[in-house]
Amino acid sequence: MTVISLIWKYFKKVKFFFVISFVLYILSFSTSRINAWLSARLVGLMSEFNADNIPLDKWFLLLFAFFMTIVAGSFLLYLAHLADAKYMPKMIAMFEKDIFMQIHKHSLRFFSEEKSGNIGKMQNSILLGILDLQRIGVGFCMNLVTIFLSIAIIAFMNLYLALFFLAVTLFFGWITGQTRKRIITNSQKVTESESEVSGIYFDGLNNASSVKAFGNIKFERRYLFSKMKEYLRLDKQEKFYRAKATYKNNFIYDVMALSFYGATFVCWKYSGLSLADVVFIIISVGALTTSTKSFSYSISGIFRTYGQLKAGIEFIFRPHEVVDLPQAKKLKVKNSEIKFEKINFSYPNKPRLFNDFSLTVKAGEKIGLVGKSGSGKSTLVKLLARYYDVQNGKITIDGQDISQVTQDSLRKNLAFIPQDTLLFNRTIMENIRYGNIKATDKEVMAAAKEAYCDIFIKELPQGYQTIVGDKGVLLSGGERQRIAIARAILSSAKILILDEATSALDSESEVFIQKSLEKLMAEKTVIAIAHRLSTLKNMDKIIVMQNGKITEEGTQADLLKQKGAFYNFYKLQSEGFLNFSDD
Ligand SMILES: Nc1ncnc2c1ncn2[C@@H]1O[C@H](COP(=O)(O)OP(=O)(O)OP(=O)(O)O)[C@@H](O)[C@H]1O
Ligand SMILES: [Mg+2]
Repeated sequence: MTVISLIWKYFKKVKFFFVISFVLYILSFSTSRINAWLSARLVGLMSEFNADNIPLDKWFLLLFAFFMTIVAGSFLLYLAHLADAKYMPKMIAMFEKDIFMQIHKHSLRFFSEEKSGNIGKMQNSILLGILDLQRIGVGFCMNLVTIFLSIAIIAFMNLYLALFFLAVTLFFGWITGQTRKRIITNSQKVTESESEVSGIYFDGLNNASSVKAFGNIKFERRYLFSKMKEYLRLDKQEKFYRAKATYKNNFIYDVMALSFYGATFVCWKYSGLSLADVVFIIISVGALTTSTKSFSYSISGIFRTYGQLKAGIEFIFRPHEVVDLPQAKKLKVKNSEIKFEKINFSYPNKPRLFNDFSLTVKAGEKIGLVGKSGSGKSTLVKLLARYYDVQNGKITIDGQDISQVTQDSLRKNLAFIPQDTLLFNRTIMENIRYGNIKATDKEVMAAAKEAYCDIFIKELPQGYQTIVGDKGVLLSGGERQRIAIARAILSSAKILILDEATSALDSESEVFIQKSLEKLMAEKTVIAIAHRLSTLKNMDKIIVMQNGKITEEGTQADLLKQKGAFYNFYKLQSEGFLNFSDD
């Protein structure tokens, strides 16, 4: 999406007040030109009559006109600001909503590859860019009115002089415009580099506990500043370039003013301009050069903001990787049978992980996935949730290809307990309710009880209203996991995906989690990535994976009888955890 088409998309929706506001600005700025013209008339009147016989009616009429234009100018400006207030906040809110949706619709790849600080900075640069554009646009409009209205009034006094002014202004304006491309590119580079720095800054903040744990604050500061070097270089380069361009342009405008004064003198001498006309033209030359100068500033400002917007829009509005098809229907789950049919998948720049991988999980069946770290267990369930699209083959739920249904309907039918549960920095009540945002407080509490969460919630001073901290850090891993289970209990999904945490849990937590999981799994189709034998005990079938392939399949008893890899894993387990050695 180009910058112009995107901005137009929003301006279109508020065009009524946008146009009204700009018309009001134009009218308000015009009054200053009329004022200049009235001043010139006043000087003309003074030169025509002496102080004793000046006709009072003309004098008062001029003063009244003066007064009226000043009052009208301020009032029109006030109305223009009101019109601004009518459309700007609305437009920013629309932009903000769309940016939010646009960001959240990106695939997990976007979030795993881009730093959150980077995303935030780019989002901010779009919103600030829009505000800047409007502010600069108003200045631009004021200069445009000053230039063209002055020239139009001069045309009534002397057409040739006006044409000369117009030609010179356009010519110098064109020369200034030549810097456009360079300003856009420079500004885009600066914004990109700035957002890179911001990404590193927030990466450091997100890992504040690691920074402290290793006593590496100074290292982090050095790291940040080393990354800032490129940004500072680009920023300096951009500022130098603009200073040089401004200096050059100012010189050009001084030459322009000189040529205007010269031409006015010639016209006064040879074509009989009145004194009032000359006064107006001289006032106008000042205004014209100042306006053309600031016109060039606003143009360079517009280009700079355009570059900033371009960087933000290209970053955030890049095409989504996982999209709903236009004809996508809602997924209807009846029995919840899952089939992976000859799927192929690889992460970018990595060897293929799944090659013609097939697996069927029958309705109501409970499958335990085990295998070495990195064998593709988490990726398999992420593909089922369509966090990534398979490159070949298909995944079906009750015969419906998941790539043909809406992502929302798919994910609403899956209760997902991830390997590491991250919580919102909100209350426990809100966090559990996330499993079903329509659930009442009573339902949330019932789910919490079933997931054995109430035991630790009761101990907290603010109970369900306790805020859990950033990503839920104020709770233990086991407590967070139980909250995830409570969420899954609240959701009415018939398919449960469990990516069990590999970290050790104390035996009490483990017992609670085991009990709550047993309840949760009843009457659901389950794919559980299990690291604990206690979880595997409840499974109908165990699948052993290695390098994206199934190497063994069967009930726990079958696999133990086979005395293959699972048997070895089982034997090697220590303290209840499966220890997948290489042999
Ligand atoms: N977002 C990603 N981008 C690129 N490669 C990835 C990504 N996520 C996982 N991988 C790679 O894919 C392979 C499979 O990873 P996956 O997370 O599926 O393993 P796993 O079996 O769940 O391991 P674990 O038991 O440690 O959780 C690994 O080699 C891993 O490095
Ligand atoms: Mg995993």
